[in-house]
Amino acid sequence: MCGIVGAIAARDVVPVLVEGLKRLEYRGYDSAGVAVLAGDEIRRVRRVGRVAEMEGAAAEENLHGLLGIGHTRWATHGGVTEPNAHPHVSFDKIAVVHNGIIENHEEQRQRLKGLGYAFESQTDTEVIAHLVHHYYQAGGSLFDAVKQATRELTGAYAIGVIALDRPDELVCARMGCPLLVGLGDGENFIASDVSAILSATRRVIFLEEGDIGLLTRDGVKLIDKDDQPAARPVHLSDVSLASLELGPYSHFMQKEIHEQPKALSDTIEAVQDAGFNAALFGEAAAEILPQLEGVKILACGTSYYAGLTAKYWIESIAGIACDVEIASEYRYRAAFANPKHLVVTISQSGETLDTMEALKYARELGHAYALSICNVRESAIPRASDLVFYTRAGAEIGVASTKAFTTQLVGLFALAVTLGKVRGKVSAADEAQYLDDLRHLPGSVQHALNLEPQIKAWSERFAVKDNALFLGRGLHYPIALEGALKLKEISYIHAEAYPAGELKHGPLALVDEDMPVVVIAPNDALLEKVKSNMQEVRARGGELFVFADADSHFHESDGVHVIRTPRHVGVLSPIVHTIPVQMLAYHVALSRGTDVDKPRNLAKSVTVE
Ligand code: M6R
Repeated sequence: MCGIVGAIAARDVVPVLVEGLKRLEYRGYDSAGVAVLAGDEIRRVRRVGRVAEMEGAAAEENLHGLLGIGHTRWATHGGVTEPNAHPHVSFDKIAVVHNGIIENHEEQRQRLKGLGYAFESQTDTEVIAHLVHHYYQAGGSLFDAVKQATRELTGAYAIGVIALDRPDELVCARMGCPLLVGLGDGENFIASDVSAILSATRRVIFLEEGDIGLLTRDGVKLIDKDDQPAARPVHLSDVSLASLELGPYSHFMQKEIHEQPKALSDTIEAVQDAGFNAALFGEAAAEILPQLEGVKILACGTSYYAGLTAKYWIESIAGIACDVEIASEYRYRAAFANPKHLVVTISQSGETLDTMEALKYARELGHAYALSICNVRESAIPRASDLVFYTRAGAEIGVASTKAFTTQLVGLFALAVTLGKVRGKVSAADEAQYLDDLRHLPGSVQHALNLEPQIKAWSERFAVKDNALFLGRGLHYPIALEGALKLKEISYIHAEAYPAGELKHGPLALVDEDMPVVVIAPNDALLEKVKSNMQEVRARGGELFVFADADSHFHESDGVHVIRTPRHVGVLSPIVHTIPVQMLAYHVALSRGTDVDKPRNLAKSVTVE
């Protein structure tokens, strides 16, 4: 995690760095800092807490410069303290910002101590600053010093480096963490993602693994991992600045929940344009999909729950085996690999380390093909995959994933139907029906959003509780899991989810009058079973909060509260029923006064183990 930004310009770069860090805050918000070259010194301002605090301190200290680097931190090595905040310096001559983890930092630390370097922080990053200094003071260019230093690091890094006596150079390097170069007019930039520099430029170069870059005001020189000059394509970013602003909303999570009809329409448009055809997943899909004997989904968190939902679709619609595994578990077990099982990774950010490593491991085990469902173009995971489906959710900034999840589900549904077609399991009539279901989905989601006042009324009751249970069955069990994750993530209420039939095998012991039990109970094949499970809860005094469509025929009664969800019979019902659980978590968190967009201890992009 962590976000880095850097700029070299003919104007004061501090406002650029600060704005960039605000946009990167989703990557970590434990501390923030900037370092600039100001006359004959490197000046640094660092603060524990949010970028806004550091911004205030930088203004007080009158910080300005034409060359600088900045960092927003999600703590890994060392606590949340100012000495551990980046940038880190070596002898006030070299300053470094770093995203990633240096695995051999302890070994390097001992070596550098032996060379006379003293350490001020507990971070792994400080070894980079000293190592660069070590090579730089031996003579040669800053670029060469960074090259020598990075070749001795193992682990993951995206770094920005400046030196006291190099006012015209900003050096950067990338291995395992995202980094791009932004090309301006007489000014150039580095950043963890394009949002950080969008006010300055849209022209970006995505660095490849092992690349090292030298930025001056007028140019950029890149070498690749083999020390060869690298010519990387220049992309024109289509991310809109408006998509990064709150607009009329109070929180990004609220905005992103309400953007779902549009995010879904945009994603569905891609499906409608291509139809349920292999081309939807890339050029090679027509050759790969017919060979498959199964699907293996790897993902984390909310994306994992999207995978669990997909399993129902893929097995029932395509008639092919599908198993779903938490990426961080899979990567450390001696798994059985059938080369003809398509590995499907699901990741909003496209840079989750556990998912990326699981993908690499699956390849090592012999899986021949990989498909990525991802929301961020050009990110690491799709680039390491043979096939890709990009969701069109737009930038998701709130740490709690919302519109990314529902659009992932659209991509996975399209995969299920496409596989079904390839395998002769989906008739032309089925296909037309599925397309029609998709067409109606944004409208149903909009209806679900209209339930907000009722859900808000419920939230007060939840806000005073310490625990909550979520129940669902079949296709709606993963949605119960997602509801529980959303609630615990942003309100800090302990919440668990179970398939309703599992209650009597243990969790029922938790149920008493203090336990709110949320039930997702649309009118599907398992409804009568769910109703019986609800009786079991009610008989133990548990209070039921039921999301049920009109056809479920639930009525309010003592201890049973019901919100009618839009009638959306059919396989896409899990997407519609995600909306109320998202809104419930949001309003409960508001009532409890937590930081909805930046919940404690978390970050949006999880690039550490
Ligand atoms: O970017 P990814 O989809 O790979 O992220 C995976 C999880 O870290 C993510 O879904 C996380 O669980 C969310 N914060 C949940 O809201």
